[in-house]
Amino acid sequence: MTTGSIPLAAVIGSPIAHSLSPRVHGYWLRKYQIPGYYIPIGLSRDHFAKGIDALVRLGFRGVNITLPFKETALAFADVITDEAALIGAANTLTFRKDGRIQADNTDGYGFVANIRQKAPEWSARVAPAMVIGAGGASRAIISALLGEGAPEILLVNRTRSRAEMLAEHFGARITVVDWTHAPAAMAGIGTLVNTTSLGMEGEPPLNIPLDHLPRGALVTDIVYTPLQTPLLIEAEKRGCQTVDGLGMLLHQAVPGFESWFGIRPEVDDALRDEVLGK
Ligand code: ATR
Repeated sequence: MTTGSIPLAAVIGSPIAHSLSPRVHGYWLRKYQIPGYYIPIGLSRDHFAKGIDALVRLGFRGVNITLPFKETALAFADVITDEAALIGAANTLTFRKDGRIQADNTDGYGFVANIRQKAPEWSARVAPAMVIGAGGASRAIISALLGEGAPEILLVNRTRSRAEMLAEHFGARITVVDWTHAPAAMAGIGTLVNTTSLGMEGEPPLNIPLDHLPRGALVTDIVYTPLQTPLLIEAEKRGCQTVDGLGMLLHQAVPGFESWFGIRPEVDDALRDEVLGK
């Protein structure tokens, strides 16, 4: 039995029920009239390897990888993009026709593409950026900001040692700043990014005063539930331009869809509405 030419892809994680990726890819499959499917697959840690192997055998074109498998996924790849290697995690696997598994990380791409779409005049080059948080999302965003030519990244994390580890990994353009010194260090920055879960529904807000944040700075958040986080609301009150985090999720899906289904899909307002259930 064979699925023949029906293109198949999936997202693998645990838990997986709340993943929005099936909605994103499902929307594009319909929009571009591609007779394919994109499905969520929940796997326990013990079954990740067998799961990937099974999908390759079943003829899947590739998968998105989400928590907790983003680091594990790198170990399964035969080919690793520079981006995935630098971040140390993969969110996109492509099962190539030559039988090799290629790992990529498109989170940093999604981060930049989202800002570019909403604030086309933004440039990382003009001033230092401040990144709050030092987890997996922070790694992708730091890598993207460095790639965009940020002259300096001020890295703030509750647990300073984790920020120091990232500074060592990414090199001289990273300056670790104490959580308590973050407000004063905002003077002169051009970009402020929250990469922690603070501000998410059910979580406390990110309580860092913005009194020193320049009005010309762009502020963005990886949290997108709610779309307008307390941080973005405060930043807007100061007159700063803000970009919500939903677009990062949408844009990071673009390279995977293109490599599996052959069309580079567009991120538009109809997709945002679809994902928001409007
Ligand atoms: P992800 O991969 O999604 O970035 P993570 O690796 O668990 O997730 O990282 C979560 C980030 O949010 C970390 O920077 C974490 O700070 P610590 O390194 O000090 O744990 C940050 N974070 C989570 N909850 C926080 C809180 N209540 N206050 C401050 N920072 C918090």
